[in-house]
Amino acid sequence: MSQIHMAEAQSVNGKAICVIEGQGASLEVLKSWVAEHRAPLEAEWVRYGALRFRGFEVLGPQAFEQVAAALEPDLKNDYLGTSPRNARSQYVFSASELPPYFPIAQHSEMSFLPSAPRKLFFHCTVAPQRRGETPTVDWRAVWRDLPQAMRETFAARGVRYIRNYDGPTSPKSRDLWQLKRWDEMFSTTDPAVAEQKAVEQGLRCEWLPQGRLRLVNERPATRVHPVTGETVWFNHTQVFHVAAAALEYHRIRQQQKTLRAIFFDALTAALTALKKRRKAAVDQPMHATHGDGGEIDPAHVKTLVDAIWRHLVIEPWQVGDVLAIDNRSTGHGRLPFTGPREVLVAWTGV
Ligand SMILES: [Fe+2]
Repeated sequence: MSQIHMAEAQSVNGKAICVIEGQGASLEVLKSWVAEHRAPLEAEWVRYGALRFRGFEVLGPQAFEQVAAALEPDLKNDYLGTSPRNARSQYVFSASELPPYFPIAQHSEMSFLPSAPRKLFFHCTVAPQRRGETPTVDWRAVWRDLPQAMRETFAARGVRYIRNYDGPTSPKSRDLWQLKRWDEMFSTTDPAVAEQKAVEQGLRCEWLPQGRLRLVNERPATRVHPVTGETVWFNHTQVFHVAAAALEYHRIRQQQKTLRAIFFDALTAALTALKKRRKAAVDQPMHATHGDGGEIDPAHVKTLVDAIWRHLVIEPWQVGDVLAIDNRSTGHGRLPFTGPREVLVAWTGV
């Protein structure tokens, strides 16, 4: 009888999750089990939006890459997202090099691009001493929970994303929210090559003084899940909108109740007010409006963040965990932490 069990469990905040318990099974045993259980595994993956593999002899980028490839052979390594990342193997990267105090709000990977991956994988090689979870959220539940008028507005008007990047020759920015430079994102210092890569993703380029680059694009606010036919909230408003960071820090303060969270909540609220006064929305490092350029109602951003936190699944990392996410239905983020932490990421094609 197989030592591997797939069952529903409860996250530490009381939400239903699907856990595949290995009880010390090796990488090879896991790979054969995946091959033999492909249909039920896929069904539960779609149903729960995420699978957590726990208790397997799986540790490090090479082993993780093999688990991800066993689940989905179509791994990719091109990335036009916002997080700074370092390569750890051909298809495995550090999840984010952002500093520990920096939260990452819930998002589906690259949902602001037409090439958002189908599936996404995380692997913990060093579990944080305190906090630092990678929460997930089911966007189908978030969508159902939003007020009807708000859903109609987003469905009709979509979302425009605006990102402002420094370049290799720009003076160093002191903005806390400044993204990595465009030459880092496109892996080239040649503006023509960067522009071509941007255009391939449907991004409009606007070259600004001092070698800066503004990227603008519009996307629908939702998508239909290709397997279940359900509508899914599928956009980055809660990450890009200028008011979002302060709302996120406020929720983190309520959840973590640490002095640091209290400090960052107050700081972010003050800095957000300041940055709105100092820079027009279009000049902020990131911002989201409706697709027609009209500002998103700030009350809608608050309603959205509240809905996300109502459905947030929070489960602490254990060393060796692999979290497999259906990116078409389920978001992920990161809560601030202290001490060492290493989480790796891999993703598939569309
Ligand atoms: Fe991400």
